[in-house]
Amino acid sequence: MEITFHLNGEEVTLSGVSPTATLLDWLRDDRFLTGTKEGCNEGDCGACSVMVTDDRGSKALNACLLFLPQLNGKVIHTVEGVSGPDGTLHPVQQAMITHHGSQCGFCTPGFVMSMVTAHTNGATDHDVQMAGNLCRCTGYAPIIRAAEAVEEQPVPVWITKETVVREPAPAAQNPTPFAPRSSDELAAVYAQNPDAVLVAGATDVALWVTKGLRDLGDVIFLEGCADLKQIDITDNEVRLGAMVDMNAMRDAIAPLHPSYGEMIRRYASQQVRAAATVGGNIANGSPIGDNPPALIALGATLHLRKGDTRRSLPLEDFFVDYGKQDRQPGEFVEAVSFARQPDTLRVYKLSKRFDQDISAVLGAFNVTTVDGIVTEARIAFGGMAATPKRASHLEAALMGQPWTPDTITAAGAAFDKDFTPMSDMRASALYRLESARNLLARYYAELNGETVSVLEVAL
Ligand SMILES: Cc1cc2nc3c(=O)[nH]c(=O)nc-3n(C[C@H](O)[C@H](O)[C@H](O)COP(=O)(O)OP(=O)(O)OC[C@H]3O[C@@H](n4cnc5c(N)ncnc54)[C@H](O)[C@@H]3O)c2cc1C
Ligand code: FES
Ligand code: FES
Repeated sequence: MEITFHLNGEEVTLSGVSPTATLLDWLRDDRFLTGTKEGCNEGDCGACSVMVTDDRGSKALNACLLFLPQLNGKVIHTVEGVSGPDGTLHPVQQAMITHHGSQCGFCTPGFVMSMVTAHTNGATDHDVQMAGNLCRCTGYAPIIRAAEAVEEQPVPVWITKETVVREPAPAAQNPTPFAPRSSDELAAVYAQNPDAVLVAGATDVALWVTKGLRDLGDVIFLEGCADLKQIDITDNEVRLGAMVDMNAMRDAIAPLHPSYGEMIRRYASQQVRAAATVGGNIANGSPIGDNPPALIALGATLHLRKGDTRRSLPLEDFFVDYGKQDRQPGEFVEAVSFARQPDTLRVYKLSKRFDQDISAVLGAFNVTTVDGIVTEARIAFGGMAATPKRASHLEAALMGQPWTPDTITAAGAAFDKDFTPMSDMRASALYRLESARNLLARYYAELNGETVSVLEVAL
């Protein structure tokens, strides 16, 4: 497999590299660019952050979660490549010095790359941009001060020049069979190689290699399938291609369903959201994936494709059992869609940390009332069963009932029929059941205009 990309201004062509070599290992071991640090090697610390640019813009990504073929045709900046040709520091680097943003320095290159990317994009929501970067010694205040200090400074000309995506890389013009450029090519190659592992954002799959030490055999990279990154919003429908990443999804969904958008903000970190795709989050079948319950509550339809055959099914039917989904060999997720609807959706994520944490329980509620009577109820949970699951007994207990506190209290008993959650390191079974019941009460309060978010409670 031949790969071409631009690294810190230099064109690099690689052939014969292992398709599952990570960018982090390659940078450090082959190029001796050791400014990019290895902390956790699993997407949690941000020490390995780099800036990756393509025709969709610049993103901070974790190099430990990127396989080299995902970078074909892209422009990469590491911390070694952000100062000017004459050695002038990037304004972010200078501000980190001026504001004492670094002590031991291990986290600093990762912070600098997140900050350079935010600065390049004009993003000033620094808490969000840096939630995926951990610092153990400096503390965040000086780092945030440094980020604030450069807000008004122009993007250095050398960065602007370097983020212009050049001619498509040769390998993109002549893809190997395992780097399809469209869903049609993907459909053909996957139907012929149904045992191959699909790699979308690799935020799960990379860990199978780096932590599980698995040999994946044949892999098919979906990154080149531009049509799978499509978002279509019409008067009637929202359709998200399987390769839409979490940040793009948040931008599209937040105006329609703000609570869902707010939940996605708490999905992992900026770097992981920039890589993780909605298709991967569904296809992995995880009982604690954050999107499936929200999409199920919206009545979403999943679109699958094998060769030239397409089929669609209600998303909840895709999740058959733990580790088992309704997906045939050679069949892939093409898109997910849901109807445009008035916004009564609320999505509540409970986890031990606010940012960068997997849900212990995630509840998604979508109830419609007419003249005070419940006429439609779609409620789904993650973390409560072996799959993302609809709370059908709860829904039945609400349907046709007056939307009152008495109904909410009475319906609470239905949780025991819907769910027998387990205890694990994230939460006990009792906590999960109790908090799920409380989330229903929270939903009722919120729809009745009460403030329920800790972020909105004034002291
Ligand atoms: C640090 C960190 C934090 C995380 N935090 C969260 C979180 O807060 N919430 C959450 O829900 N998840 C979280 N995750 C898990 C992960 O981000 C998600 O599961 C992610 O959505 C997977 O998508 P991906 O594109 O990276 O998939 P990949 O890793 O590329 O693939 C995942 C699986 O799906 C398959 N697949 C991918 N695309 C398709 C397709 N189109 N059709 C069929 N099969 C496909 C792959 O073969 C693989 O089996 C986190 C992961 C990390 C590393
Ligand atoms: S090394 Fe920690 S996120 Fe990559
Ligand atoms: S400066 Fe030491 S970890 Fe951040």
